[in-house]
Amino acid sequence: MKDIGARIPDQTRIRQSFRRGLGSYHRAASVQAQIAARLAQLLAEAGGPRQIGSAVEFGCGTGHLTQQLAQRFDFGRLLLNDLVPEASAALSVLPRATRAQARFAAGPIETLSLPAQLDLVASASTVQWIADLPELLARLADHLAPGGWLLLSGFGRNQFHELAALGSAAAAPSYLDAADWPAMLPAGLEIHALEQTPQVLHFDGAMALLKHLRQTGVNGHAQQGWSRRRLRDFEDRYRARFGRAGRLPLTYDPVLLLARKTG
Ligand SMILES: C[S@@+](CC[C@H](N)C(=O)[O-])C[C@H]1O[C@@H](n2cnc3c(N)ncnc32)[C@H](O)[C@@H]1O
Repeated sequence: MKDIGARIPDQTRIRQSFRRGLGSYHRAASVQAQIAARLAQLLAEAGGPRQIGSAVEFGCGTGHLTQQLAQRFDFGRLLLNDLVPEASAALSVLPRATRAQARFAAGPIETLSLPAQLDLVASASTVQWIADLPELLARLADHLAPGGWLLLSGFGRNQFHELAALGSAAAAPSYLDAADWPAMLPAGLEIHALEQTPQVLHFDGAMALLKHLRQTGVNGHAQQGWSRRRLRDFEDRYRARFGRAGRLPLTYDPVLLLARKTG
């Protein structure tokens, strides 16, 4: 299963995978949709103001989090970003008044030029793709205004543990448990919420499971180059080790974080 991923992220390949899956992502990514809803709820519960002056959302994809945030908050200025240029379509999920204040910039968030004095930096289900997370977090924290919010989600070390056990390399380079996050954050950020709640999806067979991975952009090549025999062997091993009531479980391990810049 070497084609499920590699430790060092090749951004061209990540971009290709997500670009290919973009049309099917929004509907197929049911876990990511729930994560986005919960993130927006966390910010509201912590007292995030209805009117947010200036915000950046990176890895916006098809706009799951963009939409959830826009339902609860108004933005003076909003910068959306994704590695995939076609994700600019996420602007269309915004209400017209917010859209007039919003823009999209394509490219890796690691090198994107950011506005200063941000009131919110948000991102759902993306930080697992960032190879040098401490460096990115330090830069994001530098661009937050005092009192500004950092709202993120990634995935823990149990993410897709079934695939890892069957011999695939981890799909993303930065799987972090909730317990790992305090040490990752630069000084001056105070944690307001930190949650890790695994969710398990069930599939009828290996083909459906691999299709799900492809549609959500995790692996653009998941179904290509798999001979019938290789697919059968994978399914047999998956069923023998993890099968439950005739179905194949796939574990998602979301980790959600809300932090605030002090001072
Ligand atoms: C799993 S999707 C999440 C999309 C959306 N935030 C959601 O919650 O549904 C991850 C997104 O991150 C983007 N991405 C991956 N690495 C990135 C990077 N270094 N900079 C910006 N976006 C990146 C991908 O193109 C993809 O759209």
